[in-house]
Amino acid sequence: MGSILLVAGARPNFMKIAPILRVLESRGPTVAATLVHTGQHYDTAMSEVFFEELGIREPDANLEVGPGSHGEQTGRIMVSFDRFLQDQARPPRGVVVVGDVNSTAACALVAVKRGVAVAHVEAGLRSFDRSMPEEINRIVTDALSDLLLVSEPSGLDNLQAEGVAESRVRYVGNVMIDTLVHQLPEARALATVARLGLRPKEYALVTLHRPSNVDERERLTALAGFLTHLGERLPVVFPVHPRTDRKLREFGLRSALAEARGVTFLEPLGYRENLGLLAEARVVLTDSGGIQEETTYLGVPCVTLRTSTERPITETAGTNTVVGEDLGRARSAVDRAVAGPPPRNEPIEGWDGRAAERVVNALLESW
Ligand code: UD1
Repeated sequence: MGSILLVAGARPNFMKIAPILRVLESRGPTVAATLVHTGQHYDTAMSEVFFEELGIREPDANLEVGPGSHGEQTGRIMVSFDRFLQDQARPPRGVVVVGDVNSTAACALVAVKRGVAVAHVEAGLRSFDRSMPEEINRIVTDALSDLLLVSEPSGLDNLQAEGVAESRVRYVGNVMIDTLVHQLPEARALATVARLGLRPKEYALVTLHRPSNVDERERLTALAGFLTHLGERLPVVFPVHPRTDRKLREFGLRSALAEARGVTFLEPLGYRENLGLLAEARVVLTDSGGIQEETTYLGVPCVTLRTSTERPITETAGTNTVVGEDLGRARSAVDRAVAGPPPRNEPIEGWDGRAAERVVNALLESW
């Protein structure tokens, strides 16, 4: 039988792939796994560091597609992945794609066109905002996948509402939380908080990279002003995504923000350093999807600087507040986090450190 092929492309994929690969490779010699890195993310800080820290082995192939417009990048991934599949002596037993990045949708499309079964991990999430490139990737990938592996209850509702047959859907829980549970002791042991001269629960951690927040001058200027003010009352730690860094420079905002009182600018962090900072933050401000989930699990207040979330469980059972574009609402949410008691978080089914085992069981039962 052919191997099970896992696709990883961009930073948020790596923490989802790591536990699935570990479980697959623990199932003995009858289950072979092939790992393909598309090269969507390529900087050491955006890719290699994660492979090292998460113990992900060398990929069997790196397609080295690099950056580009969405059409260009997606197209390059498709051409390269198609050639890769064509060159295999035996077709894979199935292809596993995770999350919602361009690599996810591109490889799903190539695989189904070659008659190879596809499983989508993190299926069914919807922001209902088609201006987000990730929403398009989610819709396309779910439409094409044979097996839809769902991480939170809204995913089941969304797929049912779209008329997806129940036989294609399994609730497996959240593989990213597997990685968090596995890595948290080592993340704490790094003592990143103390190393940065911070005190636990006395700083804000900020991450921003969505085009809707960083690509337009007016919005990014407003956010930079907001963070400058925030730094005057609470230390702000800001690991800057390459896209955001480029835009801050382009709009002439970078040096004032980097030098603002109370603001610490950092290069993109590795997984453990970031997790160590997340776990001890007073409040996290973000536009990331994964961080909304990680803060929910950790019980840390999260202020999401977006108009929607595809992860509504983080608001209903978790610690997340989606504040939209209104920075007044963001300020109030930060005030509540600073003044109030820690928010309550309820346990979520399948966010238990064992989701990858359920993923692998579902794959082996189906393929
Ligand atoms: C991608 C994902 C997004 C995810 C994010 C996490 C899509 C549509 N978007 O967005 O869902 O939340 O990754 O990071 O797939 N760059 C580098 N080095 C790198 C990678 C990127 O310098 O290793 C720069 C390049 O200039 C590139 C820009 O960042 O043009 C954006 O990278 P890209 O992969 O296109 O999208 P992200 O914004 O990272």
